Amino acid sequence: MSILEIAGLTASYGVSQALFSVDLTVNEGEVVALMGRNGMGKTTTVKAICRMIASAGGLRFAGQDLHRLSSDRAARLGIGLVPEGRRCFRDLSVRENLIVAARPGPWDMGRVAGLFPRLGERRGQNAASLSGGEQQMLAIGRALMTNPRLLILDEATEGLAPIIRQEIWTAIARLKAESGMAILLIDKSLKELSGISDRAVVLQRGTTVWAGPMADLTPDISERLIGV
Ligand SMILES: Nc1ncnc2c1ncn2[C@@H]1O[C@H](COP(=O)(O)OP(=O)(O)OP(=O)(O)O)[C@@H](O)[C@H]1O
Ligand SMILES: [Mg+2]
Repeated sequence: MSILEIAGLTASYGVSQALFSVDLTVNEGEVVALMGRNGMGKTTTVKAICRMIASAGGLRFAGQDLHRLSSDRAARLGIGLVPEGRRCFRDLSVRENLIVAARPGPWDMGRVAGLFPRLGERRGQNAASLSGGEQQMLAIGRALMTNPRLLILDEATEGLAPIIRQEIWTAIARLKAESGMAILLIDKSLKELSGISDRAVVLQRGTTVWAGPMADLTPDISERLIGV
């Protein structure tokens, strides 16, 4: 059953149209990679899903029309976003950052610390004093604390050291295996994405140009459409 259904989605920044026709479905328990070169509309699609930008077309989550909901209501329906740029509250401790995000469900501080032991060790520390990788883990932990039905990760490994990236990929793989949470992944690493994603959707200039099982995304298709 699909949890997120997007069809013919359009969105603009003022007079400049960014999304022309995005089609994207995420089913329960599925990991979907949203791919495309820089500036093709991946983050804009995420902003539309989270109701952070006006959009039109088909946009349904858990059977409800997201266009009728505010961003708060959308989040409360179970959309957990780890935004581009890993935002957390810099002046709050790790523990406080997690607590303010909490909503009822199986994910609590203990479970987040089980996934990212570094966060448990640093729970009293200010978020500003964490390394970039630890801040990214905290951003993921905050999204998990909301107990989402769909977790969206927009460039969660961007700019991090290889060893930290690997820790984050391992955590995402554990989430997939242990929680069965639906996940929408955006990342530059085709290798890591193909290892974990069930399906892929490729955008070009704000339009879905390819969608299918990850295994069907052959090297010539990815070279032509994504440039890798
Ligand atoms: N705040 C904004 N105001 C105006 N135009 C914007 C804004 N944000 C993005 N755009 C434009 O919208 C288009 C899609 O951008 P978007 O950020 O969605 O791409 P992306 O696929 O996420 O790229 P990247 O891989 O670089 O993160 C681009 O042409 C971009 O220049
Ligand atoms: Mg982006």
